[in-house]
Amino acid sequence: MQSTAPKQTVQPVQPAQPVHPVRLAVIPGDGVGPEVIEQALRVLQAIEEATGHRFHTVTFPWSSEHYLQTGHVAPPGFLDTLRGFDAILLGAMGDPRVPDPISVGLVLQIRKGFDLYVNLRPVRRLSGAPSPLAHAPTVDILFVRENTEGEYSDAGGRLNAGHPDELALHTAVFTRRGIERIAVFAFEQARHRRRIVTSVSKGNALPHTFGLWDEVVRDVARHFPDVRLETVLVDAMAYHLVRQPERFDVVVASNLFGDILTDLGAALQGGLGLAASANINPAGPYPGMFEPVHGSAPDIAGRGIANPIGAIWSAALMLDYLKDRGRLPNGDRLAGAVLQAIADVLREGPHTPDLGGTATTREVGEAVVRQLARLL
Ligand code: NAD
Ligand code: IPM
Ligand code: MN
Repeated sequence: MQSTAPKQTVQPVQPAQPVHPVRLAVIPGDGVGPEVIEQALRVLQAIEEATGHRFHTVTFPWSSEHYLQTGHVAPPGFLDTLRGFDAILLGAMGDPRVPDPISVGLVLQIRKGFDLYVNLRPVRRLSGAPSPLAHAPTVDILFVRENTEGEYSDAGGRLNAGHPDELALHTAVFTRRGIERIAVFAFEQARHRRRIVTSVSKGNALPHTFGLWDEVVRDVARHFPDVRLETVLVDAMAYHLVRQPERFDVVVASNLFGDILTDLGAALQGGLGLAASANINPAGPYPGMFEPVHGSAPDIAGRGIANPIGAIWSAALMLDYLKDRGRLPNGDRLAGAVLQAIADVLREGPHTPDLGGTATTREVGEAVVRQLARLL
């Protein structure tokens, strides 16, 4: 990057008192996962050098390759191994040689096993990021996706395999407690933003599950009279998100609807390579997990051209979380600096091919690090 006069809108971060190193579990995973995680770690290393904070990282080889070699993606008891860490940074899972439910099962087991019920996905188009829409609207939406139940339940099975009367069942499981806690989290977030919560429903066609969802969200809304609740059916939501994304502030959605709509959101924010996520339980005892929204991208894996920004942004979400957990003084300001560095690189380049450029994953990572070093 050739920038000589960076716009310094972030306050310099003062070196903090030395604290215990943050214990970070790293799972690079499959495909482009290791490629983008390498750059996220480079950013954390730059923070170490500039601030004196220490990240003690342990990298686990859990992946589809590991499965092919050992018969398991991660060894039995892997949740016990992860339990003692402050946070988990994950690249992506998924390999054409291994059935998806086996490989991506690792992600779901961590989310459910650690009760990380909030999947936080900021759908925000930073200045400099391209828009797929001609009128390039402002996009600043906080998706709060339920992460432990709903359509992603384990209740189901197949009967009469191979017979003409074969049948498959997959039962969505929605609980009052599960809906209530995700709705409360969404309303609390809205209080720090524009005070609008949009609840994504399908109560017209799925009146059992989304009937309960709508009812509980409305009950929660009564405790937040300063926040406006609107309920939008998921099909219309896909429509409005494209036509009028600027209208939305906090969006609360079930597991599956949140999954689908945040890939649409990724397009609105400039591409899947930019989208970040945090899997957290704000009050829980277990480590949160931070991962880009995208998958292992087998179509571009191994070529060194994946966009690392989604992974780097996810690391920024982790810095914020570590501050909230009392593990990283200044974590919020460090996260702000990383986001500023990302925005600067988006504006000034270099760009990977998904953004129309010719830069490699590493070149973009290095540019973010250079910009960050100026800001810290
Ligand atoms: P994907 O997100 O991997 O890719 C979709 C498209 O986005 C592809 O064209 C890909 O090249 C592009 N893309 C993704 N990440 C990019 C990046 N960093 N830079 C530039 N372009 C990028 O989705 P898919 O193709 O549906 O899934 C591939 C595999 O990943 C499957 O096995 C799927 O189950 C898995 N998956 C895993 C996760 C996860 O581990 N959290 C998430 C989604 C999908
Ligand atoms: C995501 C992914 C996962 C999901 C897959 C890998 C199970 O698509 O994190 O968005 O569906 O939640
Ligand atoms: Mn997804």
